[in-house]
Amino acid sequence: MSKNEKDKVLIFDTTLRDGEQSPGATMSLAQKIEIATLLDEMGVDIIEAGFPIASEGDFEAVTQVGKIIKSAKVCGLARASKLDIERCWRAVENSKNPRIHTFIGTSPLHREFQVKLSKDEVLDKVFDTVSFAKSFCDDVQWSPMDATRTESEFLVEVVKIAIQAGASTINIPDTVGYTAPKESAHIIKNLFCKIPELKDVIVSTHCHNDLGMATANSLAAVEAGARQVECTINGLGERAGNTALEEIVMALKVRKDILPYETNMITNKLIQASRLVSKVSGFPVQFNKAVVGKNAFAHESGIHQDGMLKHSGTFEIMKPEDIGLTETNLVLGKHSGRAALRKKINDLGYSLGDNQLQDFFYRFKSLADKKKEIYDDDLLALLSDTSMGEKNDFLKLIDLNVKCGTQSPQTAKATIMMDSKEYTVESIGDGPVDAVFNSIKKVFPHTAKLQHFQIHAVTEGTDAQATVSVRLEESGKIVTGQSSDTDTVVASAKAYINSLNKLILRRQKKVPKAIAN
Ligand code: KIV
Ligand code: ZN
Repeated sequence: MSKNEKDKVLIFDTTLRDGEQSPGATMSLAQKIEIATLLDEMGVDIIEAGFPIASEGDFEAVTQVGKIIKSAKVCGLARASKLDIERCWRAVENSKNPRIHTFIGTSPLHREFQVKLSKDEVLDKVFDTVSFAKSFCDDVQWSPMDATRTESEFLVEVVKIAIQAGASTINIPDTVGYTAPKESAHIIKNLFCKIPELKDVIVSTHCHNDLGMATANSLAAVEAGARQVECTINGLGERAGNTALEEIVMALKVRKDILPYETNMITNKLIQASRLVSKVSGFPVQFNKAVVGKNAFAHESGIHQDGMLKHSGTFEIMKPEDIGLTETNLVLGKHSGRAALRKKINDLGYSLGDNQLQDFFYRFKSLADKKKEIYDDDLLALLSDTSMGEKNDFLKLIDLNVKCGTQSPQTAKATIMMDSKEYTVESIGDGPVDAVFNSIKKVFPHTAKLQHFQIHAVTEGTDAQATVSVRLEESGKIVTGQSSDTDTVVASAKAYINSLNKLILRRQKKVPKAIAN
């Protein structure tokens, strides 16, 4: 390895696998392809596109992503089982640069309760399954799940076996977000010290954020010798999420003085990726989220604003343009034409085909009729209502009239198209939103539970658009729908319908029985 290669940190994105595993973040095939294409354009080195044995949908997604990705390696996940590994290989085999990622729990808790194997049985299984994966694919990544809670001597033993069996990347996961930076570095250093062969493979770090230390733990692992960081856009992932890709990439860029490592990443698409993943997953980005939050570059206090006017470096450690935020203060209104709209959409990091632009233009005009000034955030809300790919219009809101006020009960009269037929129903409820949801339920009865309902004003003013998120749960399946409108009740109805349409799609997906390790 040349000095340059030694200092290169590979970015392994698992938004489509670990990110999608977060409850409610299910993505359609078209959405996965859209995200994967953007990740590839951004210079991500490895895209983990799914867990092929988990469902037909996952298998198809890994296969299709593998077929269209031009530069990045495309990886699928497999448990330590021959069935999983073969299924994974079938999904990635047609990609340009395929990788199989296989794993097994190695900590005492995982050995006893998850895999129910002794230490010796785990060692045998690792050798067998990694060798089996190697018989299909040259590029095999192996992970000891819950590595940070595994006895250090056993971790050394099991990593040695994986290397002997042919693993070319050894990933060390902090599965439950338990470690801290010093310990994260120590684990990697100890492995390098006890296993001379480790210098011939790539060591990777995969951290969860349960204690808010995922980025710090990943960077500590890099300083100790890891050269692959596993991460997700917006830190999307199970529980508190995974290491956020944008934080790692910008930390390595901004603090090159103390973190002298290169990545292949083009950073000025980070904001676009963040918005896309937020839109697709239905998970809003927290306002003060590092790097990509709405307030990450906002300066409110007088002292800060004064400093910024004199020299932006006084209170800004990175430039908004570095992550793709442009000075797009040009406000649009009802007289703006298609060209201005197209330019603005492109400035915001989106591109729409001619038909999509046409449809979007009508919706923009209808918003401009209700709202004098259209800001970037209004357009972003409207864009997130624009389906770029697979769409399910089984249920559609045609008309809505609501009677609400101080006198109860509130009533809603809704006309809904279901499977191309119109139904008009009336319902009462405890408030206008409850009345609307009850009327939708009359047309499409279901037992899904409403887990989460959130309204958020896109901009200031009483004419602001509201973005509504609705999360539903049915037999363990969780879906999130979103919609925006200047009328909060209409936005709620559309978000509810959107989540039901997603639920219908999920019901159609067949999930094969889980296969034991
Ligand atoms: O967190 C974890 O341990 C994982 C493994 C499958 C790598 O996601
Ligand atoms: Zn994980």
